[in-house]
Amino acid sequence: MVDPKGSHCPTISYRPIQPLDLAVLEKIHGDLFPIRYEPEFFLNVVHHTNIVSWGAVDRGRSDGRSNELIGFVTARVVAADQSEQIGDMLRRDSLKTDKTLVYILTLGVVKSYRNLGIASVLVREAINYAANIVSCRGVYLHVIAYNKSAIGFYKKMSFNCARRLENFYYINGHHYDAYLFVYYVNGGRSPCSPLDLVATLVTCLRNLCKSLTARLRTDDEKRITRWSKFRESTCLLLTQNKRIISTDNGVCQYV
Ligand SMILES: CC(C)(COP(=O)(O)OP(=O)(O)OC[C@H]1O[C@@H](n2cnc3c(N)ncnc32)[C@H](O)[C@@H]1OP(=O)(O)O)[C@@H](O)C(=O)NCCC(=O)NCCS
Repeated sequence: MVDPKGSHCPTISYRPIQPLDLAVLEKIHGDLFPIRYEPEFFLNVVHHTNIVSWGAVDRGRSDGRSNELIGFVTARVVAADQSEQIGDMLRRDSLKTDKTLVYILTLGVVKSYRNLGIASVLVREAINYAANIVSCRGVYLHVIAYNKSAIGFYKKMSFNCARRLENFYYINGHHYDAYLFVYYVNGGRSPCSPLDLVATLVTCLRNLCKSLTARLRTDDEKRITRWSKFRESTCLLLTQNKRIISTDNGVCQYV
């Protein structure tokens, strides 16, 4: 294993992610995250299909892998009015149909290269990218509630913890809360006028009703049909506000 803090001096360089990164990108995701992503996700990343990404490599490596990814961030641009969780939080006057947000899908740095500032540079790239889109009002992401280092990292990067989303993830039979972090750009801000707050409250109540109804419906369905479907591998279908996860034990799950 390469020890960047020991024998050699790392020379970190940043570049776009390319098709030649496919295998390594997939391996690092497998190593760092508790869920497996669809092969289509990686293809979209390396071919830049609706996904923007930045990679980090260590040019100082003498093992012939000086162009191999050691860190990455992947993100995509989404319409603000299609993003319930965060769209509600923007000022109402900026919440017009043409407004966008940048959603960070994945961020990771190989363990032996952590705390060298690599993720900071990658996230800064995503923020700069967002700030250069005139219609964009913020960068946002979800962090699973137990991931203390990522939470510490985003706080250090001046992201605001906007809310805690109960049971956002359902992985291997367990529910986990998530934190929604946001970094506002181009004047995007959370609502602050009394009218904005009332509007946000109404939307929150509406969402609560929706989720209660959905939960009741799911409970009913569970009572009627108990099923299990076995699959060979884990997979994650990423959508903007919903994560559909299936696990090794084969039970398809969604949040
Ligand atoms: C989170 C992660 C991307 C950070 O990568 P990194 O390259 O080590 O990050 P950086 O070196 O740029 O910054 C690390 C900073 O976070 C801070 N940090 C890390 N863990 C922390 C904690 N538990 N509490 C407070 N701050 C913390 C460090 O103090 C450091 O700040 P400093 O530069 O002022 O010393 C990396 O730990 C990782 O890949 N984790 C696994 C995958 C993951 O969890 N991804 C995020 C999912 S949303």
